Amino acid sequence: MKKGYSTMTGFTPDAPVLHEIKNHSEALAQAEAGVAAMAAERNNRWYPKFHIASNGGWINDPNGLCFYKGRWHVFYQLHPYGTQWGPMHWGHVSSTDMLNWKREPIMFAPTLEEEKDGVFSGSAVIGDDGELKFYYTGHRWANGQDNTGGDWQVGGHARIRAGGDWQVQMLAEPDNDELTSATKRGMIIDCPTDKVDHHYRDPKVWKTGDTWYMTFGVSSADKRGQMWLFSSKDMVRWEYERVLFQHPDPDVFMLECPDFFPIKDKDGNEKWVIGFSAMGSKPSGFMNRNVNNAGYMIGTWEPGGEFKPETEFRLWDCGHNYYAPQSFNVDGRQIVYGWMSPFVQPIPMEDDGWCGQLTLPREITLGDDGDVVTAPVAEMEGLREDTLDHGSITLDMDGEQVIADDAKAVEIEMTIDLAASTAERAGLKIHATEDGAYTYVAYDDQIGRVVVDRQAMANGDRGYRAAPLTDTELASGKLDLRVFVDRGSVEVYVNGGHQVLSSYSYASEGPRAIKLVAEFGNLKVESLKLHHMKSIGLE
Ligand code: FRU
Repeated sequence: MKKGYSTMTGFTPDAPVLHEIKNHSEALAQAEAGVAAMAAERNNRWYPKFHIASNGGWINDPNGLCFYKGRWHVFYQLHPYGTQWGPMHWGHVSSTDMLNWKREPIMFAPTLEEEKDGVFSGSAVIGDDGELKFYYTGHRWANGQDNTGGDWQVGGHARIRAGGDWQVQMLAEPDNDELTSATKRGMIIDCPTDKVDHHYRDPKVWKTGDTWYMTFGVSSADKRGQMWLFSSKDMVRWEYERVLFQHPDPDVFMLECPDFFPIKDKDGNEKWVIGFSAMGSKPSGFMNRNVNNAGYMIGTWEPGGEFKPETEFRLWDCGHNYYAPQSFNVDGRQIVYGWMSPFVQPIPMEDDGWCGQLTLPREITLGDDGDVVTAPVAEMEGLREDTLDHGSITLDMDGEQVIADDAKAVEIEMTIDLAASTAERAGLKIHATEDGAYTYVAYDDQIGRVVVDRQAMANGDRGYRAAPLTDTELASGKLDLRVFVDRGSVEVYVNGGHQVLSSYSYASEGPRAIKLVAEFGNLKVESLKLHHMKSIGLE
């Protein structure tokens, strides 16, 4: 038996196991005070105006996403006592329209024996009785005190984390319709430690037919990234079914935050999308450039079987900072939020009293080519405060035109006439400041890709990321971009969300211009609109 593990008999106890070791209300009150102390000192230079972030402290994955009794709820992994990853809580915001958000009390603090070192990621689902349930991972360090003792590895939290985890799946139920507090029911799925190499987490639950299913990420005893499938009739007692999926790449040792949902293709056929945040894959060409990489495969699934992929692994988002997305279905719409993971130390915003934001909510559909499309949900047009229509713009060889003198929170919609442009690279310099720093969002004709290039940024890690365009997109002669610039980030939606790039962009001091530029050739922009963005109410 591994050091620190107690005797375990099976996967699923007959009833939830509950061992309270701390008072939850006291732990929550302390956590609120921790966040408030950091919020009071917060530096807002990069704090988002229209993205979800905590008032203070560190956040990572979106959790428990749902639309319940008239409100949208977004929970997220929260460390309330510092701006680095630490003992995990669940922070919470809610909204009636996805545009105006309200801070809610912190939902979970680690207070049970089974989660004493962290209330890790999980999801929410509405049960047969119309009541919501939360499934999450209880985390303990296997040696009882810290993350030493396992294999050292680079993790998604921009720090070295070891494989010294001991993790089990947990259940909680809300106390009221507003989801302002919840009662923990305890452990529902134990960890068979002889079959698992420490990582065993992030449950996602759905119903197919009359059976409830749960999948979560597992590192098998021989260190392969897997997703396991459990089933249940009553949502409380769960039985192991099978390995739902094993990542074909032997370097991939863990699939964090797995997701699994059906979706219709353009002919109305049902496909299943499997999503996960893979740990261990090596960079190869334009792929897997981040420390860990979140993506999906499209295929088929029947209850009782394994997932059968029909595509290769593709990235959800090609930017520098996208990880741990979670989707949920509301009235037939599959909506996803991702975490903009900073990945690389040092992280500039950690000095500012807060760290980490979520992306805009995106709707997942299958395009005509059968691939996944993720576009901002239609509601996001409601964030526009006013619009400056620049009409069409032509730049000569190596030309430049200022689009905005000081744009901190804007959306730009533009269509490039590729057929009428000769520039080898052209696009927008955003967060362009007097010190010469900027982040470049460009179409690169030599590689036929849209890039976000941070080589000229004065703060944070640099490098560029590049999203592919299909032959059909290139042959169309047009390129549509929607570029969302917030105070410390940029999200680029290419051709209605066929590709997306999300990256932090830590602007320097002073006014932040946006410039349209063309390099080595001319640029014909058919239309360009700039919208100023409203605040979502969390500043
Ligand atoms: C992904 C992740 C999850 C885990 C959580 C802990 O970023 O590592 O696998 O539940 O973060 O904060």
